[in-house]
Amino acid sequence: MLLAYSSQRVAYPYFLVALLLFLLQVVVGTWLALSYAVTMPQWLVDILPFSTTRAIHTNLLVLWLLLGFMGTTYFMIPEETEREIFSPLLAYLQLTLLVGTGVTAIVGFLLGWTKGKPLLEIPFPLDYLVVAGALIFLFNVGMTVIQAKQWTLIQGSLFGGLVFLAVMYLFNLPFYANLSIDWYYWWWVIHLWVEGAWELVAAALTAWILIKITNVPRELVEKWLYVELGLFLFTGIAGTGHHYYWLGAPKYWLWVGGFFSALEPLPILLMVLDAWHYIRNRRAGLNGRLIFTLAVGMSILHFVGAGFWGFAHTLPQINYYTHGSQVTVAHGHLAFFGAYVLLNIMSFYYAMPRLEGLAEFDERRGTLAFWWMSITMMLMTLAFSVAGVLQTYVERVMGLGYMTAQAQMRFWFAILVVLGLSLLGGVILTVVDLLTLRPALAGAKKA
Ligand code: HEM
Ligand code: HEM
Ligand SMILES: [Fe+2]
Repeated sequence: MLLAYSSQRVAYPYFLVALLLFLLQVVVGTWLALSYAVTMPQWLVDILPFSTTRAIHTNLLVLWLLLGFMGTTYFMIPEETEREIFSPLLAYLQLTLLVGTGVTAIVGFLLGWTKGKPLLEIPFPLDYLVVAGALIFLFNVGMTVIQAKQWTLIQGSLFGGLVFLAVMYLFNLPFYANLSIDWYYWWWVIHLWVEGAWELVAAALTAWILIKITNVPRELVEKWLYVELGLFLFTGIAGTGHHYYWLGAPKYWLWVGGFFSALEPLPILLMVLDAWHYIRNRRAGLNGRLIFTLAVGMSILHFVGAGFWGFAHTLPQINYYTHGSQVTVAHGHLAFFGAYVLLNIMSFYYAMPRLEGLAEFDERRGTLAFWWMSITMMLMTLAFSVAGVLQTYVERVMGLGYMTAQAQMRFWFAILVVLGLSLLGGVILTVVDLLTLRPALAGAKKA
């Protein structure tokens, strides 16, 4: 029996839904690229405007990533606290509520029902249901930890990150009449999520999985975790300023945002070093290889996507030209993919074989899917970047019109359609593999 606690099973349906939504998200992404590459007939645009499909693409992304984090948390917390989850029933109820709300929101988007704030389009009163789902989750995990009376740093940073995440979402609920103020708080959700709360969750989950599959002592992992968390909070919170340059906030944000966000790659770089550090201490055993490949791939692409591509446009002198262009989109894709998509896939590959009672599984398809998706995503990032540099040059340096720039960018979007189909292939392989894990071949080389 590989599962220490039977309530860990609640994680499985979370993973299943997350994987299906991932698939749908990437289909819609490819559609978005197509709508840049060719001129869609007007009747189709009337039914399916770009803003709607974009909202579906990004909301699906956020929803499935969050469901993945929640599932992984439910899988991890019994082992960390050494007791069953407070209420598995609540966990299922929470999943039903969140998925029901998500599906309603997407149907609503198709009918034009939206709050209109990018990435946070879910309108009232659905956004309150999201809050209810988050509260059930925090209550359930919190009660499990409280009853166990056993806190570890990993639990603490995970729980802290989850509370931080939920509290920030509250700033999205009101609509502020002053648009500058509205955008100001919008960033408290968007930026403080991906560069604050989610980083804490990611650091905690990664630390936990690394402890499980290596023989590095917990104290050592926790020491690194302290340093990273401190740095993440220090640079990430003040770094919010890199979004306040042009929205009507006071001028000092140019300095604060520029300086602190330029330091943001530092904690991410430490994570890469961590991963190398743990590799040296790796213990041969239970299906370590694929999870390790994912951990290393994740920390490197996290660094490249968030650290490098983020740094590239974070100084106000550069952001003045690139703001809101496809350069931003290039960074958004690789950062999300490297940091959070791969984190989820790594967690799924850690938890799902155990949930299915497989001590060892055939890692070949999963390894192929990892390389396929990662290489395709790198190429996508390059294609978005070329489109973005063209756009910046034609629109912001030469001062020509929006459509003049679009005409120059089209070719790169045609390439993006092909890359989108390729990524879709990699995602299908990942999903199929995770849902039909097979025992390792007898005599196959072990990790
Ligand atoms: C794991 C896969 C993916 C992730 C994590 C992802 C993430 C994102 C994010 C974060 C945004 C918002 C960008 C911003 O606000 O700057 C976005 C928009 C977009 N995505 Fe994706 N996406 C994925 C797959 C795809 C695929 C396969 C394609 C097709 C090539 C695609 C095409 C687009 C397009 C065209 C937009 C709209 C950009 C704009 O507004 O100009 N995405 N995606
Ligand atoms: C995993 C971490 C990160 C993720 C997932 C992420 C994702 C994103 C996304 C999706 C956007 C577009 C938001 C929008 O306008 O719709 C964005 C914007 C931005 N990001 Fe990140 N980011 C991360 C980390 C970083 C870091 C570490 C830096 C700086 C070193 C950075 C610098 C920026 C800047 C300057 C913008 C604004 C671009 C503009 O003016 O259009 N990001 N990020
Ligand atoms: Fe940011």
